[in-house]
Amino acid sequence: MHAADLETIEIDLFLNALYQRYGYDFRQYAQASIRRRIKHFQARTHYKRISDLIPAVLYDEAFAHSAIHDFSIMVTEMFRDPTFYNAVREKALPYLKTFPFIKIWHAGCATGEEVYSLAIVLQEEGLYDRATIFATDFNDSALQTAREGIYALKEIRQYTKNYQQAGGTRSFADYYHAQYESAIMEQSLKKNVTFANHNLVTDGVFSEVHLIFCRNVLIYFDKTLQNRVLNLFADSLSYGGFLCLGSKETLRFSDVQERFKVIDDHEKIYQKCTT
Ligand SMILES: C[S@@+](CC[C@H](N)C(=O)[O-])C[C@H]1O[C@@H](n2cnc3c(N)ncnc32)[C@H](O)[C@@H]1O
Repeated sequence: MHAADLETIEIDLFLNALYQRYGYDFRQYAQASIRRRIKHFQARTHYKRISDLIPAVLYDEAFAHSAIHDFSIMVTEMFRDPTFYNAVREKALPYLKTFPFIKIWHAGCATGEEVYSLAIVLQEEGLYDRATIFATDFNDSALQTAREGIYALKEIRQYTKNYQQAGGTRSFADYYHAQYESAIMEQSLKKNVTFANHNLVTDGVFSEVHLIFCRNVLIYFDKTLQNRVLNLFADSLSYGGFLCLGSKETLRFSDVQERFKVIDDHEKIYQKCTT
């Protein structure tokens, strides 16, 4: 047997151990990316073999949680892909404006930057007070940061640029106040937001929502898991509701392709066209 095949067995056993012991299921994450994360974790913790990690995660809960933390890649920013937010303003919000209330689900919201970005757009479009926003992730420490809404001041210059490119109509400084090295997001942006734990692999339909953001999450999943999650989104959306994916993600060739029409192919905005 080749070393690479042995390693595949070790990875399978390791992921099974994490799943059976802690309920975190990475078995259907994209092979290449999960392999990279495991290797990185192995190097960081100085374990010679991947299989040596198995007893370590089984018997040491803190160690396991540090592995789980490493496997959820949390890279994010405010107004990520600024032109996407322009497209949301112009192509999705005018339709949603006709609704008396708007329920929004951010799936895989990481540390919350995306949630505050949309909250700002909703305020500027006069829709915030009608909105109920559920922001979920399976990483509790990311959710805690998201709830606090305190970010490094040094990031703000980039975020301000993104905000302007995203069609922002005010001064970005209106949305936070600076304290020492931190930017504390305005309390009014949090008013209608609930941050909660939800695992896209193991948990079910969220509720009847009108807009779903799930950006830069599906890229980490294999095809089968992507389809499971996309079905979950299709079932959670009301008729006419919008699904927004990340720049490298698509509904093309997925199981739910027929249930949506493409609103903006480049910005990955889709609208559910079946009941
Ligand atoms: C790269 S971040 C994307 C953050 C944000 N949506 C954006 O586009 O900037 C991916 C997020 O997906 C979350 N995630 C990964 N697997 C998940 C799962 N099974 N259930 C819920 N969230 C998950 C990670 O914890 C991480 O916060």
